[in-house]
Amino acid sequence: MHKREQWGTRAGFILAAIGSAIGLGNIWRFPYVAYENGGGAFFIPYLFAMLTAGIPFLILEFGVGHKFKTSVPNIFRSLSGRWEWLGWWQLLVAFIISIYYVAVVGWSISYFVLAFTRGWGADPANFFFKTYLQLSDTPFAFNGIRWPIFGAILCAWFICWGVLFSGVKKGIESASKIFMPLLFIMVLIITARAVTLDGAKEGLNWMFKPDFSALLNFKVWIAAYGQLFFSLSIGFAIMLTYASYLPEDSDMANNGFITAFCNCGFSILCGIMVFSVLGNMAFQQGVGVDKVVSSGVGLAFVTIPTAINSLPGPVFFGTLFFAALLFAGLSSMVSVCEVSVSALIDRFGISRKIAASLYCGIGILCGIVFASHSGLLVLDIVDRFINNFGVLAGGLVEIIFLAWICGLDGFKGIINLTSDFKVGTLWAFCLKIITPAVLGYMSISNLIGDIKTPYGGYPSLALFVFGWCMVGGIILLSIIINLTVQGGEK
Ligand code: ALA
Repeated sequence: MHKREQWGTRAGFILAAIGSAIGLGNIWRFPYVAYENGGGAFFIPYLFAMLTAGIPFLILEFGVGHKFKTSVPNIFRSLSGRWEWLGWWQLLVAFIISIYYVAVVGWSISYFVLAFTRGWGADPANFFFKTYLQLSDTPFAFNGIRWPIFGAILCAWFICWGVLFSGVKKGIESASKIFMPLLFIMVLIITARAVTLDGAKEGLNWMFKPDFSALLNFKVWIAAYGQLFFSLSIGFAIMLTYASYLPEDSDMANNGFITAFCNCGFSILCGIMVFSVLGNMAFQQGVGVDKVVSSGVGLAFVTIPTAINSLPGPVFFGTLFFAALLFAGLSSMVSVCEVSVSALIDRFGISRKIAASLYCGIGILCGIVFASHSGLLVLDIVDRFINNFGVLAGGLVEIIFLAWICGLDGFKGIINLTSDFKVGTLWAFCLKIITPAVLGYMSISNLIGDIKTPYGGYPSLALFVFGWCMVGGIILLSIIINLTVQGGEK
């Protein structure tokens, strides 16, 4: 029996957890979601969601992972033999996320290099879609592999493999200790410069101007919860896995608060950075900020390069921005991959080196579709379905299982034993009532929404194959794995 690895220091664990939480979502999604949902007023539902669902769930996952000190399928199996499939389901969700997340990390590597010469030219939209991605019209028009993109993705896998291969302490902890401070410094530097640009004030006004009437809109509150789960990496096995490497006397409650508040603070910082740059862009073009605002892939690879073109010191901004995107993406990606690596080690008794190599090898093969000419289209569909029916629904089933079927008293005792801040009735109320209610509402409304209105105008067959079949397939596969491993042990 191998000795299970542990974090070397408390700071190392916290930095790794923050590294997982802070990812692409903070940089390209949070600013837009806040802007769209009441601007400054959005912070009220966001903070409320963090206190009533995000932090309680995070502390619970820290407590459960810490108690069982094993990988996620084993955790659920220890709680109830019939629930092991939930662990496999979350693991498969994390696997799918890792194979498309790495594609975006790969693009960030390419753009980091391009930023030195502003290689995206005068028309970044044309460059990104036509020259770089050479995007086809429909998801099934793969048209072979885009080798430069495949190369960039391989590079991202290679870095990730190096970190996973080196272990929890020497790999993930050491990388987080380098990536996280650097990431904060880089974003601080860009932001400090960006807020002094012409038009930055106007941009910030657009983002932060509070529209309190938005608070009466139920959708705004739901958007706050939706933003939080993916961003805090809860509900898809990551924090359970990371907490399983905690030493005996770890403070789970405080670690949860620190992780959540750092993630939130970083998101706000990214909002200031992005909207200052957008404000400057709008100023240069003589239009309102609403005309230039965007999110997701469009923000990172089209709008920001367009803005950079007209900034003073474009190389400075460009290289720092894409390096920040790269570091944020890499640290999250490592955490997503670690879910399966730890399961391979714990479940099949193989060494970390073999597990990491096997995982990355399989990831490269399975993710090859994202290096094809229709990669972005497939990624968009998979991301949408995995978020709605993997992360949120997986989180819902997990919370029902932990809070209602297992009961929270046992976990509460474990958490309070070593934490300064004691969790109690309010914590249990949030987990038993508020979190399942919000997640349940979101899952059902997403399901109805996606059945009624096919997502993104994609052909039905593409949504069926890359969306519905993919989510249905992983649930089925998790049940099959559960039955197979149980059968094999009889
Ligand atoms: N929490 C990570 C992100 O926000 C996965 O991108």
